[in-house]
Amino acid sequence: MTKSAGLFITFEGGEGVGKSTQIHRLANLLRRRGHDVLVTREPGGSKGAEAVRHVLLSGAAEEFGVRMEAMLFAAARSDHIEQVIRPAVEEGTIVLCDRFMDSSRVYQGVTGNLEPKFIQHLERIAINGMIPDLTLVLDLPASVGLGRAKAREGKNAAPDRFEKEEVSTHEKRREAFIDLTRTEPERCKLINANQSEDAVALAVMAAFEPVLARAEPGAPDKGKKA
Ligand code: TYD
Repeated sequence: MTKSAGLFITFEGGEGVGKSTQIHRLANLLRRRGHDVLVTREPGGSKGAEAVRHVLLSGAAEEFGVRMEAMLFAAARSDHIEQVIRPAVEEGTIVLCDRFMDSSRVYQGVTGNLEPKFIQHLERIAINGMIPDLTLVLDLPASVGLGRAKAREGKNAAPDRFEKEEVSTHEKRREAFIDLTRTEPERCKLINANQSEDAVALAVMAAFEPVLARAEPGAPDKGKKA
């Protein structure tokens, strides 16, 4: 089969919305259809970014403030993009990434109360033009997602730095993710994650098919990156 152009697809949403399950389902489906697929995640996904991941999720950076955390997320993102994501997309791989720049906009920007300009500048430097072709926002009431995350990790496991925050903070994040799908409707698609795994997978595929069609061999407008 002629190789298709690569794609960069991100999955976003609150805690426990089922991103990783859906990413693996989509990856398997695409591989069966003959595509090269890379599954990755943030914070992390490259050697440098994985080193920073622990500092962020353990809460070790929390006492230094949200600006510091935002810059660490950005540093990890930059390494992940330049070492892993961009080379893979340029080789024709479909990259599926669990969280990306929108998590920084929501967690550090909206609920971290960082000035929008600061977040925008950091984002521009970190992503260096690597805007996702599609962002799937999985949406679920915060209490349901937190319950699922807890069940997944085991009842006695300690929540990470971001999970441990108030339910009202998680609800605010949910609203901020929904807002993204309103302000950037071309890139960001809202997926109702409060239904069966199969139904969510169908909704993910329905949102993804048009983007995939653009990337198939012979499609006219690939290379549309901003
Ligand atoms: P992780 O356990 O990797 O995954 P998830 O919650 O998606 O199952 O946790 C990552 C945490 O980091 C999550 O609480 C969201 C947070 N985060 C940010 O605050 N900003 C960011 O830019 C990213 C990528 C993640």
